[in-house]
Amino acid sequence: MPCQSSDELKALVEEARNCTKNGKVADYIPALGKAREDDLSIAIHYPDGRCLSAGDIEKKITLQSISKVISLALVLMDRGQDDVFKHVGMEPTGDPFNSIVKLETMAPTKPLNPLINAGALVVTHMINGDTVKERIQRLLVFVQELTKDATIRYCEEVARSEFETSYLNRALCYFLKQHKMIAENTDIEQLMELYTMQCAIEMNCLNLARIGLVFAMDGIDPQSGKQIIPADIARICKTFMVTCGMYNASGEFAIKIGIPAKSGVSGGIMGAVPGKFGIGIFGPALDEKGNSIAGIKLLELLSKNYKLSMF
Ligand code: DON
Repeated sequence: MPCQSSDELKALVEEARNCTKNGKVADYIPALGKAREDDLSIAIHYPDGRCLSAGDIEKKITLQSISKVISLALVLMDRGQDDVFKHVGMEPTGDPFNSIVKLETMAPTKPLNPLINAGALVVTHMINGDTVKERIQRLLVFVQELTKDATIRYCEEVARSEFETSYLNRALCYFLKQHKMIAENTDIEQLMELYTMQCAIEMNCLNLARIGLVFAMDGIDPQSGKQIIPADIARICKTFMVTCGMYNASGEFAIKIGIPAKSGVSGGIMGAVPGKFGIGIFGPALDEKGNSIAGIKLLELLSKNYKLSMF
């Protein structure tokens, strides 16, 4: 068992918290700008049901880009790998998460992976259902099953705030629609509604750690024994987390930390230590690439102290 007590975890949180002063809360989605820069919390969820935590773990955060791994798992389950990978690639980009540049320079115009915004918009447009309401509901039910928490919802304020300001994502959608990676009959405003609701799904660190745990255990909920995500799909998601989960910082993260992880601009990080445990972190001060600055420091300390690198 790597980390034995919440006190051990608290000491690591206090050490990592020093970094928050070097980061900045995301404010390009206006509602996210309200977060406290020096916040930092973590939860670790073990397969036997034990949880360790430190910081204000009751505080809720929106998933933002962390939701991209979850929608990917759902769409792979709905549509199968062949259909999904016709529309989105498997390669890291080396570009910022919201970049449009490769869509124009690569032929065919296909987003390089599902964890950049362009790829995630394509994946979200493939969520089954007739209406936005039905489709967000399907995603929420899936998240509720992963977290074992039926109270999970999306934050309307954050969803609206992003919907009203998301010009770059709209540009990506129209570009992708022009090039047939987003189906011609797709209403982009409705897609933006669904995408911004998806990104605004709200939960605490314990919930996040529990999702990480299901991925860590190859898609099995270790408490009920139920295979929530087919093992093959959990493996694909974890592989993307390693190669693209921390955007254009994924290579350095793999070398220094070596844990499949996915970040979001709210300051969340979900980690899945294969076969061992799930991690949920919230630290809203971000580095220049949009990853939680103290969250990364904390994972670095955990990985070094407890030899968690999978490589
Ligand atoms: O689409 C966006 O810009 C946000 N809803 C999510 C971006 C994000 O979390 C990138 N993370 N590092």
